[in-house]
Amino acid sequence: MTPEHIRNRESIPTEDLSVLDGRRVILYGAGKIGRRVHDALAWFGVPTALFWDLRAATVGADLAGTPVRTPDFASLPENERKTCAVIVTIFAENVAEQIRADLRRAGYDRVITERGFITRLLHAECASRRAEGRFEFNLETCHICPVISDTRNRCDIFDAHVQAHFVRGLDAGRPPELVVPSAGVLVSNKCTLTCVGCNHLRDHYKAADHMDIPAGQILADLRKFVSAVDMVNKLVLVGGESMLHPEIEAILEGVMALPRVGVVHVITNGTVIPKSERVFELLASPRVIVEISGYGDRIPDKFQRNVGKFLGKLRDKGIHHRYSQTLQWFDFGGFEDRGYDRAEMERVYDTCCFVSNDIFDGRMFKCSRSAYGTLIGKVPDYPGDYVDIRGLPVPELRRRVAEFLAMKAPNVCRHCNGASTQVIEAGQQVKFVRKAKSAAQVAEPQKAAA
Ligand SMILES: C[S@@+](CC[C@H](N)C(=O)[O-])C[C@H]1O[C@@H](n2cnc3c(N)ncnc32)[C@H](O)[C@@H]1O
Ligand code: SF4
Ligand code: SF4
Repeated sequence: MTPEHIRNRESIPTEDLSVLDGRRVILYGAGKIGRRVHDALAWFGVPTALFWDLRAATVGADLAGTPVRTPDFASLPENERKTCAVIVTIFAENVAEQIRADLRRAGYDRVITERGFITRLLHAECASRRAEGRFEFNLETCHICPVISDTRNRCDIFDAHVQAHFVRGLDAGRPPELVVPSAGVLVSNKCTLTCVGCNHLRDHYKAADHMDIPAGQILADLRKFVSAVDMVNKLVLVGGESMLHPEIEAILEGVMALPRVGVVHVITNGTVIPKSERVFELLASPRVIVEISGYGDRIPDKFQRNVGKFLGKLRDKGIHHRYSQTLQWFDFGGFEDRGYDRAEMERVYDTCCFVSNDIFDGRMFKCSRSAYGTLIGKVPDYPGDYVDIRGLPVPELRRRVAEFLAMKAPNVCRHCNGASTQVIEAGQQVKFVRKAKSAAQVAEPQKAAA
């Protein structure tokens, strides 16, 4: 704890850190958010006493010297519990609220679950570093930062970097007004896998539902879309499995050439290694980050081997990437109308972390469930839920995009559990029974990614 760090506390609203002052800080969750909160607190001179994490055994005995333990609320004497502040770094709101209730029952009276507390703290750390000339932009860090992981939020520090270094074709002398924080590009709904509960609804398709959108069409839609807005901070290329698309090279080439677009984020299951070296050259741009969803031994061996090879290639080519070991998914449930009233629909939408502004076949939807559910007829066609990019003239498209971004609670949310407490194991295959494996074999792709 250095005096200069304590001075920096002035850059974070004092009521935020004063909630912690003098208390022993425990972070519930040692995942990517927990670790960043730990580091931000340290920057402001606040030490963390302990991490609690259900996966403590796999995380390790400590993180940066702070012990990691399985949550055991009774492990502290009762009189000490009131001297602690527990920050819950799990963002699924219902899960966090359940943890808070359990902690309160056990006598912990200062439990912080408010997402805003964490995002203000992390943003304040970056702002403080920047003020001291000690901020270094790192796409891999921003990529997992909760300040912008919700596509409805923006970060001035990220925006400024993207605008200054990544985007070309901005209108000179006019600051961008209509900025799309993030938009998805669903290039295909085909995939090498059929995961149970996939939010792209892969386990609901009939053979006739499969389609690759032609590269020319995807790029024409995107060119029109970006001509109607001032800037797109991040474009997310996704499938199904985007690397399966026969024209993936042309799509990437065209996307990288688009004006007014900042970061390009590719999400893949890593099971398909593109044959074209040009694809890897394009991915090696400093504007690109590749995210590999890790499904471990829940997918067949040959695919696990491909994931390892794909990661090896990304490393060799110096491509920004992140391997996310994905263990649990949300269970969005069936497609029946839940009969929510307006307030309940807004709550489901506001707490959902899957709003991705996905463009599919010429229309922009709030999420992939909306796009693909409409395609396969599981969700009624609600014209108010999407923007018709192909059908609207550009000035009208601009107005409609602005309205769409501000819209809360599309009708599709009536047909969804949202990001609720109901979870399922991630990446289980409809037709694959996994064999027993040693822990070392299962962890291999992730180790390779480290
Ligand atoms: C639908 S996948 C498409 C891209 C690619 N096929 C993959 O699996 O990475 C996009 C992302 O959604 C995640 N995902 C899929 N179904 C989900 C669910 N029910 N809950 C949470 N995340 C889900 C995947 O793990 C992946 O990170
Ligand atoms: S989550 Fe699974 S089924 Fe769905 S698109 Fe990704 S790999 Fe394919
Ligand atoms: S339907 Fe609504 S609640 Fe469900 S994933 Fe889409 S935006 Fe989220």
